[in-house]
Amino acid sequence: MRAQPAAFSECLELFSHAEEEEAYSRYLDLLLSVWSDGSALPGAPRAAEDAAEKIRQAPDGRRGHLALLLGLLTETGEPGLRRRVRAGLHHYLALLDTLRDEVPLGTALVYLLAHFPEDADRILPTARKAPLDPDDLARLERCLASFDPESPGIGRSWPSPARWVLSHAERDQERRWLATLGHEAKTAFWEKDTRTLLAYMGAKAACAVATGRVESEAPAEVDPVLLPDRAAAEMPQFNGHLDLMHCPACRGRLSRRATGVVCRDCAVGYPARQGYLDLSGEAVGTGDQIAGNSPLYLSWYEPLLRPAFLRVNGTNWNGAVSVADEDRYLAEHVRPVDGPLLDLGAGTGRWTQVLTRILGGERVVAFDLAATMAARLTKVVPDSLVVRGSGGGIPFADGSLGAVNCWNTVQSIDQPFATVREVGRCLGKGGTFTMLTYRKSHDPLYRYFQRQHEECLGVAAFDQKEMNEALDSAEMDVVDEYTPGTFLIVTAVRR
Ligand SMILES: C[S@@+](CC[C@H](N)C(=O)[O-])C[C@H]1O[C@@H](n2cnc3c(N)ncnc32)[C@H](O)[C@@H]1O
Repeated sequence: MRAQPAAFSECLELFSHAEEEEAYSRYLDLLLSVWSDGSALPGAPRAAEDAAEKIRQAPDGRRGHLALLLGLLTETGEPGLRRRVRAGLHHYLALLDTLRDEVPLGTALVYLLAHFPEDADRILPTARKAPLDPDDLARLERCLASFDPESPGIGRSWPSPARWVLSHAERDQERRWLATLGHEAKTAFWEKDTRTLLAYMGAKAACAVATGRVESEAPAEVDPVLLPDRAAAEMPQFNGHLDLMHCPACRGRLSRRATGVVCRDCAVGYPARQGYLDLSGEAVGTGDQIAGNSPLYLSWYEPLLRPAFLRVNGTNWNGAVSVADEDRYLAEHVRPVDGPLLDLGAGTGRWTQVLTRILGGERVVAFDLAATMAARLTKVVPDSLVVRGSGGGIPFADGSLGAVNCWNTVQSIDQPFATVREVGRCLGKGGTFTMLTYRKSHDPLYRYFQRQHEECLGVAAFDQKEMNEALDSAEMDVVDEYTPGTFLIVTAVRR
């Protein structure tokens, strides 16, 4: 528990003179004396004036902290605060003009300045001359731009407009998609893009001031998933797993029929579509978290969007967890007993392929709620059974699965703990449950930006203790926990 916040001026003094190793903790004291989780505290107006006035005199290595604080005060939305922070614009521009290689200051200034689109004409000429990371500059330009319904890029500027270099075909695809959107939908996309970009810039600046560095945002090195140019057969290949499955409505046994399967108890039929079995009971097109955004999201997910998501939610700005680390973790921890391995929330399938390489395609069942993903998975893992359904009601019998993997997914599921219970029910004794997800940051500043992303992207982060309790109640023992940054990477074994 933090003590009652001291006055801002006192905290500012302590922060400015703090030794390096104490600086961040003193900074949090300073920030939390006037700001709490996106809201301004009573001393904030005075603090905004002070910080705006004194930012240039702050010691080397401490100015970025103040720029971030000023951005946070502006973002509270209090008009009086905004006005006070804006009064210091000439100071921020002077700092930008003399910026050298101070990454924390550069990222924090960009985050601060991105809140003042009305000053774009003053800000951008200086920003374009400054030695900024091109991704930071592109985000700043986008946040300062005014809404243009004709603008390409609506719905796809995150994590950086500079990274979206489209082919001709993608441009056409985007044009066709934009033509289907009304003014209101475009405005909503534009506003959400701005908010998500600000949250991303803030998270990056928060990491930079806390650690003194952030790596450049090179796209992840993922081997491209090659999709065979052939239509899948309509009927899925069951690989002998149908006997282990049950009706998601009544848990009755399922029988094959010409167009899919039927429940032997309640007689509900479930269709086969493009090579996958659809047990979702939902219309095609519902609940598509990735492709439900811009249609380009599908092909840009693995190289661009997913790594950005890991950076923000996992605090992975300095690459603590690489794709190779993820692959290695799966190879070392997935240990199935008898029965198939279910890849729950398989998504675009790159990590499902890793599992098929370890266990063989026939042993793996690719499972996802989104029809787009299920259709794609039939091509990405052509030897595996692909099922569309929800983790909240896994259509497999008790103890029938050899292992379950849920990689970068449980945070996207509406009822994550119900899904964990379902995993425990379906896993055979001794089978592993491997999971990559995220912890709530204990740092109140970073947590604010992590939460902004959760709201914009519709995901969650977990309290580690609560997740462990959920695993325990689902009869699983945690045998390995790997928690760099704010990742929560766990292996649990069914008791
Ligand atoms: C962020 S993606 C993860 C994909 C992949 N496993 C990875 O590591 O990148 C999350 C996936 O979970 C799926 N999903 C969301 N809710 C689900 C649910 N209730 N049941 C099954 N899948 C779900 C989404 O459709 C999406 O494909």
